[in-house]
Amino acid sequence: MPEIAFVNDVFMPLSEARVSVEDRGFQFGDGIYELLRVYAGVPFHLTEHLGRLEQSARAIGIPVPYSRDRWAAVISEAVSRSGFQEAKVYIQVTRGVAPRDHVPAGALTPTVVITVRAMAPPAAELYARGADVVTVSDSRWARCNIKSIGLLANVLAKQQARDAGAVEALFVRDGYVLEGATSNLIIIKSRCLVTPPEGPLLLSGVTRKVVLGLAQEAGVAVKEQPVAEDELYGADEIVLTGTTIEVLPIARVNGRPVGSGAPGPVARLLMARFREARG
Ligand code: PDD
Repeated sequence: MPEIAFVNDVFMPLSEARVSVEDRGFQFGDGIYELLRVYAGVPFHLTEHLGRLEQSARAIGIPVPYSRDRWAAVISEAVSRSGFQEAKVYIQVTRGVAPRDHVPAGALTPTVVITVRAMAPPAAELYARGADVVTVSDSRWARCNIKSIGLLANVLAKQQARDAGAVEALFVRDGYVLEGATSNLIIIKSRCLVTPPEGPLLLSGVTRKVVLGLAQEAGVAVKEQPVAEDELYGADEIVLTGTTIEVLPIARVNGRPVGSGAPGPVARLLMARFREARG
């Protein structure tokens, strides 16, 4: 089955997709993106992802070239052309192509790239035993709520985690832990979910919102408040949320066990509820 790309209104096999070396995404990281999952052929929370795409584009002054209906139609066609039932859809919009100059000479036509690749559900074993994370100093800019394609700090943090045998790096700024390199953070203390509030220092995750809603439906309290790094070590449980990892229980932070060192009851509840919600 083919991996599909859609580049500026044209569908093609992913292997044939090309953009100009003068694209401002390539030159400056001047663009934004989304990543969403397809479960059983259906995009998961497409409206929320498109809403965030629009917000990110607006925040950096890139005109969004398509209506919501057009995005939905193109994504649906790309998914059906691929034939994949379980897939990830990547959307990138850059400011466009122009000779390299920090300020482009005039109005540009944004570049739109969509790719569809197969994605199997996450490996069950990691979810059964819980994952390792490390903390890293947050060297990102101060507009992390924009889903910018400029991800160098995230790439380096994730590599640091990998080198330490961990699956994720948690960003710490001024003594507070904000989120992971590709995920949001929720700690659980006395059966209450605590998660850093939305703001410019973290991405408003679609999965985060879904999981907070599922917790509330299940009668579990939710508090959105800053989380000090020390609180990681006193938490009963910790989970990360994200499009690729769904709800991932954390067993150890910097090698120190979280709670019992195995996924706890609230993590298991949230994982089960999420699996039901995704269908
Ligand atoms: N990243 N925080 C950051 C910094 C992220 O990059 C992501 C997701 C999240 C979780 O957001 P959501 O639940 O909407 O996926 C939080 C995607 C998966 C990526 O960069 O590939």
